[in-house]
Amino acid sequence: MRISVIGGTGFMGSRLVRRLVAEGHEAIAHDRSTGCDLLTGEGLPQAVASADVVVNAIDAPSFDAAAASFFRTTADNLLAAAERARVRHAVLLSIVGIDRVPQVDYYRAKLLQEERFKHSAVAWSIVRSTQFMEFVDKIMSWTTEGNTVRLPSTPLQPVAADEAVQFLAEVSVGTPLKSILNVAGPDVIPLDELGRLTLKARPEGDLRVVTDESAGLFAAVSGGAVTAPKGARLGSVHYVRWLTERTPHPA
Ligand SMILES: NC(=O)c1ccc[n+]([C@@H]2O[C@H](COP(=O)([O-])OP(=O)(O)OC[C@H]3O[C@@H](n4cnc5c(N)ncnc54)[C@H](OP(=O)(O)O)[C@@H]3O)[C@@H](O)[C@H]2O)c1
Repeated sequence: MRISVIGGTGFMGSRLVRRLVAEGHEAIAHDRSTGCDLLTGEGLPQAVASADVVVNAIDAPSFDAAAASFFRTTADNLLAAAERARVRHAVLLSIVGIDRVPQVDYYRAKLLQEERFKHSAVAWSIVRSTQFMEFVDKIMSWTTEGNTVRLPSTPLQPVAADEAVQFLAEVSVGTPLKSILNVAGPDVIPLDELGRLTLKARPEGDLRVVTDESAGLFAAVSGGAVTAPKGARLGSVHYVRWLTERTPHPA
């Protein structure tokens, strides 16, 4: 199968390309460095030409309100090009629970991106993942000051990126779902506890976690809004085990 992965050089996209190639597919990574700009449409016809499947694994340059127009325009450009090229399946990587946290700009923007896929003329699938385990460091960095990391006790259900990719690859080469598949890790863990587990596995000087229900993006998330809903596919890698073999998200 020929699969064009837009954002295929990114953290998730590159993992997906590697996995699909290892499974014997012709998976090709596209991004601005390969001449494909999803925002302007430049290089897009060539990127999707003769693809059976396109996967949208791009991310916005910012988490603020500007992400809305970025995700809307890039989704529209990709889907229009895919329709013209008679691509049979368009797949989107999204985030679990974004419809349950309307006060976060970035989540509203991702929801807009999903809406474009749902109304596309191309048969579609959406894979919503929970936060990647590799992303916990980044979350901690947002609210680190001096020797203190402030984190709310928001329940998360992080998944190892390689397991999320496994589900994404399965969907990409399968029959279009025309629905959303949720994927998550095996354990629900409060974010402040995730921070403590992280520092226990990798002590950083005298850095310590302080519970602060008003700190960072996840303070806006109530209850289990971003944990796996019923019917989600769950990975098997536990965070504490993953910590011993970790590779942090570079972003
Ligand atoms: N972080 C998490 O825990 C998490 C959880 C669930 C879902 N997600 C979703 O997963 C998706 C991918 O995240 P990621 O961390 O893998 O992103 P990433 O590492 O930042 O990669 C983004 C990719 O998009 C490409 N890109 C950006 N702007 C582009 C444009 N205008 N045209 C073409 N390509 C463009 C980038 O390459 P160039 O910049 O070189 O073009 C890069 O290949 C995101 O949509 C995110 O919402 C993330």
